[in-house]
Amino acid sequence: MSKKILVSGIKPTGRLHFGNYFGAMKQNIELSNSGEYESFVFIADYHALTTERNGDDLRKQTIEAVASYVACGLDLSKVILFKQSSVPQVTELTWIFNNLVTMPYMMRAHALKDFTDKLIHNNKIESRIEAEVFNQKDGGNTNAIKFLELLKAKVDVNVNVGLFDYPVLMASDILIYDADIVPVGQDQKQHVEYARDIAGFYNRAYNTEEFKLPKELIVEGVGSVPGIDGQKMSKSYNNHIELFCSDEDLKKRVMSIVTDSASPEDKKNPDENNIYKIHKLFLNKDEDEVLRKKFEDGGYSYKEAKEELLATIMKWREGKKKKYDEVVDNFSELNSLLNENGKKAEEKAKIKMEKIRKTVGLSNDF
Ligand code: TRP
Repeated sequence: MSKKILVSGIKPTGRLHFGNYFGAMKQNIELSNSGEYESFVFIADYHALTTERNGDDLRKQTIEAVASYVACGLDLSKVILFKQSSVPQVTELTWIFNNLVTMPYMMRAHALKDFTDKLIHNNKIESRIEAEVFNQKDGGNTNAIKFLELLKAKVDVNVNVGLFDYPVLMASDILIYDADIVPVGQDQKQHVEYARDIAGFYNRAYNTEEFKLPKELIVEGVGSVPGIDGQKMSKSYNNHIELFCSDEDLKKRVMSIVTDSASPEDKKNPDENNIYKIHKLFLNKDEDEVLRKKFEDGGYSYKEAKEELLATIMKWREGKKKKYDEVVDNFSELNSLLNENGKKAEEKAKIKMEKIRKTVGLSNDF
């Protein structure tokens, strides 16, 4: 029996951090390396265009994403690693799917809400000033309503159509390779549901079974990785710890993890502690028990807890950081592999697209 097909993408929007690693990368790497799947992993550069406006930056970030995966142990002999944009057929498929989804359906996408929430978060201070201006003019409830409308308008004008269509492009990525499983972080679960829905919309509309219904594979037990301020780790909250920043920056980040005012001798609840929640991601069960006990027993200061976390991360980076720098510095070798792999992926996508063109009425033979 042929192997099941695994498809996954990683968006190259800035240097990867431990939220990306524990949320999705680690699992992607383990599954791909297991050799159990025919594995297609790509750098989602088309998706990155929804927010990136500088070609050189996007190229740099693509290199960094590849280097991060390789440094973290992705076995390039067991996976077809390539750039999403090597397969332009996915954009054609996106156009075909666009005609099968409705506006209200797209408006339910969490990622859109997440994006607008972050915009609101980043705009808050400015918006508060606006709110105050309203309050001074006339008091009462209408101000609050006006304020919210203003904020919403501000957010909506920042949502480009590419961003709105993000889930359809992602569905095309997944469906064009006939994926069976899609390993993703919790935040991407709904996108795989969209891919399944869209496969169903198409199959019903054209009365075929051309698209397989893919399943998501979610990392168990991680949930969302907290950042140094306790919110979900995210570049847009600037609370992230990069995988391969300098030692100095790493130290700064770890030492600035937000804690409460408990004193060293206090007993601490690990489950409510940010340092613990980040540290435990690196530990096996026994090591985790030991760490929990330190927090629970008291006499474990936050300074010491942070220093031990820093040591753990430094140990994790041993060898990996060097590999990362090597790949970034000698990218041309890997680039030829990426391009070759891109051709392989494109071959597969072309065959699929030929069938689809025929079904929907775009093929040349009448
Ligand atoms: N949206 C994913 C993310 O932000 C990246 C992605 C693009 C992806 N296409 C995909 C993931 C297809 C899995 C399958 O992480």
